Amino acid sequence: MNFESVLAGLPDAVIAVDGALHVVFWNAAAEELTGRSARRAQGRVLKEILPTGSSLVRRLTETLATGEHRSEADGVLETVDSRTVPVSIVTAPLFARDGTVEAAVGVVRDVSRIRQLEDEVRRGETLAAAGRMAVGVAHEIRNPLGAIRGAVQLLARELGDDPRWREYTDVLTKEVDRVNRIIESLLDLGRPVQLRRAPLNLHQLFERVALLHEGTARARGISFVRRYDPSLPPILGDEDRLLQLFHNLVANAMDAMKQGGRLTLATRVSMNALYGKMDVGTGQRSMVEAQVADEGTGIPADVRAKIFDPFFTTKERGLGLGLALCHRIVEEHQGAIQVESAEGRGTAVTCFLPIARA
Ligand SMILES: Nc1ncnc2c1ncn2[C@@H]1O[C@H](COP(=O)(O)OP(=O)(O)O)[C@@H](O)[C@H]1O
Ligand SMILES: [Mg+2]
Repeated sequence: MNFESVLAGLPDAVIAVDGALHVVFWNAAAEELTGRSARRAQGRVLKEILPTGSSLVRRLTETLATGEHRSEADGVLETVDSRTVPVSIVTAPLFARDGTVEAAVGVVRDVSRIRQLEDEVRRGETLAAAGRMAVGVAHEIRNPLGAIRGAVQLLARELGDDPRWREYTDVLTKEVDRVNRIIESLLDLGRPVQLRRAPLNLHQLFERVALLHEGTARARGISFVRRYDPSLPPILGDEDRLLQLFHNLVANAMDAMKQGGRLTLATRVSMNALYGKMDVGTGQRSMVEAQVADEGTGIPADVRAKIFDPFFTTKERGLGLGLALCHRIVEEHQGAIQVESAEGRGTAVTCFLPIARA
């Protein structure tokens, strides 16, 4: 039996180093995971290939020094194009005849898919909890709020046109309306909606959203760019909910471009490995990608994990419910939502939505 070919065929990256941390084995999965060929890795010191502080370097070094196993569930691996991939790592010593540690082997597993699913679950739980609470609270608040609004209007009428009082009553009305909008959004989030699905032309939806925003956008130095795939099949979705979805994404994109820029609406049939085909309850279905991309501020790495949380906002007057709702809507469609962002360069939000026919 050829052990080398067994190792080569493993889905996990297997990397072995000698006592001085020179790479002596680098299988196909390691090539794929790191983006570095075995030919270029063999014989080199691992620290020259991966950053010194990298989880794998650290664990292999420890194993060489102690002759003990090491494992790390939440490691990261840096790829050639300086992406970081979440990985789990296990290292083991290889002993020489005299019992000294002569080499160490590390098995590295790509866990990005698992992490992504964990995030999804966590997000779903927060949303469900927020939704349940919201519905309860919202109903209690709605009625007194209605009474306040009515009273303020009466007051405004009594006080007449005196600008001194008008200012106060205007503020009262405006703020009450704002609270009302928060409640409506919360109810939207909490309400289990019955989707009214129909075949839809995604480009028409995008155009309706663009029509509403393009005037304001132009005034702010933002131009809309369309990159539509002309052969895109109809999607299966709820028109109102999807309009809500795209409104929110376009609003966020515009908020991020205070200095102006291009806002791109793009569509295509998805070739994505993870989301190109998804189970929509009635079997696998091909997905299309509806993307809203901006050239705005981008999202800092430490903020990225929180943007879908209800009430998370970095804006002075933000509600922080937009993306939570977007996530909810995409989920209702058995789709997926993905955010790519580069700080200072912009953000692209991609929604994966099912096509109308299998
Ligand atoms: N296109 C974007 N560019 C930069 N940051 C964004 C973008 N979209 C969302 N964000 C970040 O995510 C946060 C949450 O967004 P959202 O849920 O829509 O709430 P809100 O817009 O009320 O702040 C925003 O406050 C912002 O920090
Ligand atoms: Mg928003």
